[in-house]
Amino acid sequence: MNIKNLSGKKGLIIGLANESSIAYGCLNALYENGCTNIIGTYQSPKSLQYVKTACDKLGNINLVEFNYTDENSMEKLFEYVRNQFGNIDFVIHSMAFADKDSLHGKVVDCSAEGFISSMHVSCYSLISCCRNAQKIMNNGGSIITMSYIGAERVIKNYGIMGPIKACLESSVAYLAAELAEYNIRVYAISAGPIATRAAGGIADFDELIKQAELNSPMKRIVTNDEVGNLSAFLISNLSSGMTGQVIYVDAGYFLMG
Ligand SMILES: NC(=O)c1ccc[n+]([C@@H]2O[C@H](COP(=O)([O-])OP(=O)(O)OC[C@H]3O[C@@H](n4cnc5c(N)ncnc54)[C@H](O)[C@@H]3O)[C@@H](O)[C@H]2O)c1
Repeated sequence: MNIKNLSGKKGLIIGLANESSIAYGCLNALYENGCTNIIGTYQSPKSLQYVKTACDKLGNINLVEFNYTDENSMEKLFEYVRNQFGNIDFVIHSMAFADKDSLHGKVVDCSAEGFISSMHVSCYSLISCCRNAQKIMNNGGSIITMSYIGAERVIKNYGIMGPIKACLESSVAYLAAELAEYNIRVYAISAGPIATRAAGGIADFDELIKQAELNSPMKRIVTNDEVGNLSAFLISNLSSGMTGQVIYVDAGYFLMG
């Protein structure tokens, strides 16, 4: 896919862990479409080696360590971005976390602490991200987050991440409505299951993949590149009339009952 005119765009991709990351699929797609002014985040020095190995295949990506803990950490990240680029045109928010007990247990058993910390990292971080991005998105832009069909249907073993993704998708709608006056568009991409590091934390993830292959109309799973291609479209001016959607990249799985 080649979307023209991305070469002038500058932005931030949050959530690179390795070559399998959805964030990496986005980075790859943006690169393919001429967008190279990108800052990518990795969470810890331990993950840097994997992220750097993957990114070096594309070019000299500006990588910065970012561990979201509180508002201050988000502000610091955007301060760095502002110092590097001044103004930006897009942010891809591709991060989520739930501790093992919360993720593997039943929703009914989730502790307040587990719920709050998972919600904070996986959902509130988008709100914080939008607030900070608005300050340096002076010509409008696109903010994209990643969701999953477990937001709207009960999916076995998705547990507490289901309600959290539901809140994320609802936040996208409100953020899109509020930021529209600044010409900032906000989207969620609802991706089918992809074998990533985060997905490895979900019990029986292989079964989820098998079910997706079996039950999706296209009889296959999707790749992080395919998610990336949609992100390139949403960042391009070709999507200028759209905001607030949850858009599926899941080989049609969402259609099936
Ligand atoms: N893989 C799938 O099947 C799938 C499907 C639909 C949606 N998603 C969503 O896609 C997004 C990206 O996940 P992925 O599957 O590419 O896995 P991944 O492990 O490659 O990426 C998750 C990223 O979140 C980052 N992260 C977690 N906690 C963080 C924190 N406190 N501070 C900063 N970064 C933090 C990790 O460092 C990692 O880079 C997530 O929101 C996930 O829920 C994944």
